[in-house]
Amino acid sequence: MPPLVRAIEPRDLPAIREELHRHWHSTEIWSLGHRHCADRLPGFVAEVDGVFAGLVTLHLDEGAWQCEVVTLSSRQTHAGIGSALLRAAEGFARTHGCRRIYLTTTNDNTHAIRFYQRREWRFSALHQGIVDRVRALVPDLPLLGFDGIQVHDELEFELWLVDTGASHDTTRRDSIA
Ligand SMILES: CC(C)(COP(=O)(O)OP(=O)(O)OC[C@H]1O[C@@H](n2cnc3c(N)ncnc32)[C@H](O)[C@@H]1OP(=O)(O)O)[C@@H](O)C(=O)NCCC(=O)NCCS
Repeated sequence: MPPLVRAIEPRDLPAIREELHRHWHSTEIWSLGHRHCADRLPGFVAEVDGVFAGLVTLHLDEGAWQCEVVTLSSRQTHAGIGSALLRAAEGFARTHGCRRIYLTTTNDNTHAIRFYQRREWRFSALHQGIVDRVRALVPDLPLLGFDGIQVHDELEFELWLVDTGASHDTTRRDSIA
C-alpha cells in the first residue's frame, strides 16, 4: 500500500520526537554548523494504514530562496516511503518559490549517498571536519556511524528547481578546464 504523505500537525509531536531520537539520538540536529530544533520545523509525515511511517523536516533559509532538508527517515525501508517524503519536500520548496533544495548527510551514510544520487540530486560540496567541530561542542555526538565508519564530514547534495542555464554539453570541446 503506498504511503499517505501529509503536512506535520501538532498531534504528530510525540511520534516526531521518537523518530528523531531513533535516528539522531536527539531532537537537536546539527547541519552545516547550525543547530536545528527539528521537532519545531515544518515538514511532512508518512503514514501506512494510518500508522506513522516516516518523517521529513525542512528549513527555509532567510528569504526562502532555498530550502534545506534537515532530516529524512522512514520506518520501513524499500517501500517507497523515503522517495514519497523527498518528493513532498521538493513540492514544499517549489510552493515557497525556492530556487534550490539541499541537504547534508554524514560521510558514513553510504546508503543515503546512493539514495539521493539515484533521485538525481547532485553532490555540491564537502564540509570536511565539520562534524568534528560540532563534536567539540556536543561531546556525546557518536564517533562511529554506519558500518563502523568514523563520522567526520558532511556531504552536501542539492537539486536546483530552476534552470541555472549551465550547459553540460561538452561533446564538441577540446577542454573543459
Ligand atoms: C535513506 C532513507 C530515508 C531511504 O528511505 P526508503 O523508505 O528506504 O526509500 P525508498 O523505499 O523510497 O527507496 C529505497 C529503495 O527502495 C526501492 N523501493 C521502493 N519501493 C519498493 C518496493 N515496493 N519494493 C522494492 N523496492 C522498492 C526504491 O526504488 C529505492 O531503490 P533505488 O534507490 O535503487 O531506486 C532510509 O533508508 C532511512 O530512513 N535511513 C535512515 C535515516 C537516514 O540516514 N536518512 C538520510 C540522512 S538525512
